[in-house]
Amino acid sequence: MTSHEAQDARQELAALARESCRNAHAPYSGIHVGAAVRSATGVCYTGTNVENAAYPLGNCAEASAIAAGVQSEGAGFRIAETAVWALDHRGRTIAISPCGGCRQRILEFGAGDVKVHFPWHDGSLHTATVDELLPFAFELPDPNAP
Ligand code: THU
Repeated sequence: MTSHEAQDARQELAALARESCRNAHAPYSGIHVGAAVRSATGVCYTGTNVENAAYPLGNCAEASAIAAGVQSEGAGFRIAETAVWALDHRGRTIAISPCGGCRQRILEFGAGDVKVHFPWHDGSLHTATVDELLPFAFELPDPNAP
């Protein structure tokens, strides 16, 4: 992939995440979050946050996008690249990065060098790797290790 193609892929993923915000069910926080993941197969899956009157039952957008990927591709689903976006109750972009739980969710399906794109406080589309977002991550020992 050329750097131009990589830049296009990044912008495309961010645009998908942004479009997904439209479908949010976020009547309690007013924060509409969208996530887009490109799987190792090249297919993109999107998801949005789904809140609930019983607040702890709400789902994050990343969890929805990952669930869509697993539903379509099964246990072999792997994340190649991902983006998250957020709009406030007036439809304005706000800075967001994946919450701690979603960093762990992304790690479950993506290696430490997987890139995560998100709108940041300086107005840029910021990119960080999973390793940067979740240092000293929790991982189970390999059951096949001698
Ligand atoms: N939220 C996400 O969808 N993803 C994150 O990574 C952080 C938070 C949602 C949860 C809740 O519906 C709203 O944003 C405000 O916390």
